[in-house]
Amino acid sequence: MPFSYKNDHQIYRSDYQAPHFKVHNYELTITLDPTQTQIAGKFELQFNDTCQAPFEIKLHGSNELVLTQIFIDEKPLDPSEYIFDNNHLVLILSQKNNVIEIINTIDPSSNTALSGIYLSNEMFFSDCEPQGFRNITYFFDRPDVMTNYRVKLIADKKYPVLLSNGNLIEEGEYSQTAHYAIWEDPFFKPTYLFAIVAGDLEYIEDTHIRPDGKPVRLRVYADKKDIHRCQFSLDSLKKAMKWDEERFNLVCDLDYYNLVAVDDFNSGAMENKGLNLFNTSCILATPETATDNEFNFVEAVVGHEYFHNWTGNRITCQDWFNLSLKEGLTVFREQEFISQEQHPGIRRIEDVNFLRTYQFPYDQGPLSHAVRPDAVGSIENIYTTTTYEKGAEIIRLYQTILGKEGFDKGFQRYIKEFDGMAATVDDFYQAMKSENPRLFDSFPLWYSQRGTPILKAATHYDADKKELRLSLKQSLYDPISKALQNPMPIPVKYALFSQKGEILLEETFTLTTHEQCLVFHNIEELPVISLLRDFSAPVVLDYDYSLAELKTLIAYETDYFAKWEALQNLVIKVVFSQELSKTQMAHLIADAFEPLFEFAYQDPAFCALLLTFADDGYYLGLMETENILSLRHTREKIETHIATRFKEEWLKLYHDFQDDHVDSRAIKNIALQFLSFLPECQALITEQYKTATNMTDISWALKYAVWQDIPQKEAMIQDYYEKYQDYSTLIDRWFGLQERNPHLTMETLDKIVNHPGFNRQNPNRARAIVGAIGRNRYALAKIGTPLYQWIANEILIIDAINSVTAARLITPFTKLARLPNPLQTEVTAIINGMMKAPNISNNLFDQLKRILQ
Ligand code: ARG
Ligand code: ZN
Repeated sequence: MPFSYKNDHQIYRSDYQAPHFKVHNYELTITLDPTQTQIAGKFELQFNDTCQAPFEIKLHGSNELVLTQIFIDEKPLDPSEYIFDNNHLVLILSQKNNVIEIINTIDPSSNTALSGIYLSNEMFFSDCEPQGFRNITYFFDRPDVMTNYRVKLIADKKYPVLLSNGNLIEEGEYSQTAHYAIWEDPFFKPTYLFAIVAGDLEYIEDTHIRPDGKPVRLRVYADKKDIHRCQFSLDSLKKAMKWDEERFNLVCDLDYYNLVAVDDFNSGAMENKGLNLFNTSCILATPETATDNEFNFVEAVVGHEYFHNWTGNRITCQDWFNLSLKEGLTVFREQEFISQEQHPGIRRIEDVNFLRTYQFPYDQGPLSHAVRPDAVGSIENIYTTTTYEKGAEIIRLYQTILGKEGFDKGFQRYIKEFDGMAATVDDFYQAMKSENPRLFDSFPLWYSQRGTPILKAATHYDADKKELRLSLKQSLYDPISKALQNPMPIPVKYALFSQKGEILLEETFTLTTHEQCLVFHNIEELPVISLLRDFSAPVVLDYDYSLAELKTLIAYETDYFAKWEALQNLVIKVVFSQELSKTQMAHLIADAFEPLFEFAYQDPAFCALLLTFADDGYYLGLMETENILSLRHTREKIETHIATRFKEEWLKLYHDFQDDHVDSRAIKNIALQFLSFLPECQALITEQYKTATNMTDISWALKYAVWQDIPQKEAMIQDYYEKYQDYSTLIDRWFGLQERNPHLTMETLDKIVNHPGFNRQNPNRARAIVGAIGRNRYALAKIGTPLYQWIANEILIIDAINSVTAARLITPFTKLARLPNPLQTEVTAIINGMMKAPNISNNLFDQLKRILQ
């Protein structure tokens, strides 16, 4: 190493030790003040019978805390009676039973990291997952220490709404200028689920009636200016509650359930017990301000946070290495909810697309980690698509292998056995296995082996014997050590079709060894096989479909995913073909598209998805050496051809689907996307922008104007800004246009940085700008080093403000190994430079270090 690294430490899963004590009756009195908030915490601590005196405890704390006083059994401690070890407070106790009281202060106004208690729009909010509670007071800030909370909030009356977890017990006047509220949460919970909110918020409310007839009072709180945009999330919450009762028999366990919208928030949302907090980008939705996709997203996030109440809150994680226990499972539950509420096939395809565009490359790159890792440099850095989306795929594998019935039995057993406890992914596996003894012993390898398995398939048809052979072979090489890994159970859903498109058989086979061969008898003619239907396992399928086979599947597949995949495969085959000319390519794809124009009238939303090309990132991942410039060139050629050849069809679709319906908007805007390639049709873009009354149509029109660089682009951009400048999430979208601005230059960046809306303190804005620019693969390739340097500088500035946000912006650097030289050498130097920054955070440092490893 050319220089010595700072605090380069790792945390190991094997170091886990269960707590040797129990905590009861945590009483918190929080006196809120923007610069000096006082926290008084009192709890009963009881050491296990196996412990011997003297008893030592280590309470987590941080630099943010100013200690006022400690009492043990009401007796104040002298500073000589406790010690600090690296921000942790160490107490040595002589009794088995103790009442500990700690008083300290914090300064919410200086909390730009947004972890712990902080201010947003001059109101108080909190965010504690995973380790934010240590920025509030000294306590056991680990998920396996759970207790019941009683929280008294005291604040000036200019903060009329005072919220915390659980049920409201009491509220009243505290002094002439102050008031208080007491909240009690009867359910034992870890610190990361603690939350408070205080401010001048408005609410809307409704009631959910549980199966036993008891009501739950539901509220959504938001800033006055946003409250009219909350009805949809309130409705979504009701739907989610009902769905969880019906599908999993899980009933809301609290009489009060509150959702709160907040502008400054590190993640999308947080499942605090009975008090879910949402980034405004994930909760506000009206047709005038949110696109149809954003509506779908809000419904999913509201569901997700609610579903955590059982998978996360009632049963939490033993340690953060087991984060996927709650996240993978909850994402899966959210996906099941959405596929019932929305279209049965679309969400599955979107999920697969997301997984392959983001999680697969991530899992092949330097930051690859197992779904349940054994060592991490920073807990914050396991909030990844591997933990969430691959974790959800693993839960789906259980369901695919065991069937819905077997899965539901295992799931109910898990709930029953671990309710009220902190559990692990092994516990979940054991519950599944107990109810389904045939579950493969190798299943847990999915949690411990990182990387994406490759499933190689080959078929051979013997016409004389009327026999089809299907050979399946799996391989997984560790992405970092390159060692061959053990085979895992891979369920392969498949179907055989006749040449005429009739389904001959539909089955699932689970491959458990490196290689296996299946033989099908009495197959009268050469069949067409469809493999990995419904994307039955998170693997890369390597099977060489012929063009004819793909055409059959595009026309006759009944599985949504497989039909969509066949079309994708055809496009890929053509785009990467060595032999075809660009014109031939375009013709082949156009032939496949032709029947879809009729299909659009049957299922417009699904058809819109069929007609959508995958993101550049997906294709780049398939290229040996990434070449965005040639990819774009090829795509443009193909897209222009499809636009021209079907001009009349696109125009017909565009005009036929003008009604006010989400499915119509989906297909209409795909039509507009193709028409936008034709200069003579570009007036439609400006026309749509001008006349649209919903954000979906406005937003697509604006995007196409930028992507195609039409002359009216500037005027539209200006108009949008003027109309929506008071809506921060809408301005995020506006800044986000840079993601696909093909004309991004260093001068544009100067303009952005000097724009009054540029704000690094707000995570959404930081992501909307720096994140979007980092995803602009075209600009990264064209501008090269100066753009990487610009992003690096921005990340370092943001790191000093909010390291969680900064550490998530490094995505462009994770592609280092795939960059051409000399760019690769230059970007390596940039990363090295960042790592030498004097006050770099552990979160950011950990990511960069792994990139260079
Ligand atoms: N548990 C939250 C959710 O999945 C995400 C919290 C992420 N917070 C963080 N600091 N990384 O809904
Ligand atoms: Zn979650």
